Amino acid sequence: MTKKVFVGYSTWSGSTHEVADAIAIHLKKCGFEVEVFNFKNVKILSNYDAFILGTSIHASHPSGAFINFIKKNYTILSKKQTALFVVCANMFEDTPENRSETLTWLQDSLKDIPAISFLDIGLFGGAVITSGPDYEKLNPFVKLIIKSMKKTIVEKLEHEDFRDWEKITLWSEEIARKIEGAV
Ligand SMILES: Cc1cc2nc3c(=O)[nH]c(=O)nc-3n(C[C@H](O)[C@H](O)[C@H](O)COP(=O)(O)O)c2cc1C
Repeated sequence: MTKKVFVGYSTWSGSTHEVADAIAIHLKKCGFEVEVFNFKNVKILSNYDAFILGTSIHASHPSGAFINFIKKNYTILSKKQTALFVVCANMFEDTPENRSETLTWLQDSLKDIPAISFLDIGLFGGAVITSGPDYEKLNPFVKLIIKSMKKTIVEKLEHEDFRDWEKITLWSEEIARKIEGAV
């Protein structure tokens, strides 16, 4: 039977949403039935065989919606196949130091939850987006903060989109193999 995969994301301007959509496209190509949800709009979880949950990072913290989703659904997530992914500026370069720091932000935020054996944790470079449907929904104050962050990042790193789509494809294919492997 075709396995059903839930891909959940939390986003400010849309870059994590776009990564979630890309992961979903690859998983569909691998033969899974996939649905993508913003954590704000989740309904029933009992229909899914596997969960892939993503968050961006702001001020060294994963989003509250992502953490609350894991806390609230701990019982089901710990029994199913669950993978996480993080999208952030720190992973503009995939170095051991950047991976370690990013993982620490994630682990600190999950420290009050009993450990879950995740299939994997994907760590991806992010993007500071100032257009598109998710960005347009933000309030003017948050838009200003994001614009200011974009300026800082472009000054420091010369561009604002560090998403490595090839890496995201390879990770999605690896997750597909792991989900398929554990029948
Ligand atoms: C106000 C602000 C604070 C941020 N803080 C961090 C941070 O502490 N560490 C980091 O690695 N990236 C940080 N970022 C970068 C975001 O994680 C990155 O742009 C991500 O792709 C945003 O995804 P989203 O649009 O889906 O929320 C910050 C971005 C903004 C706008």
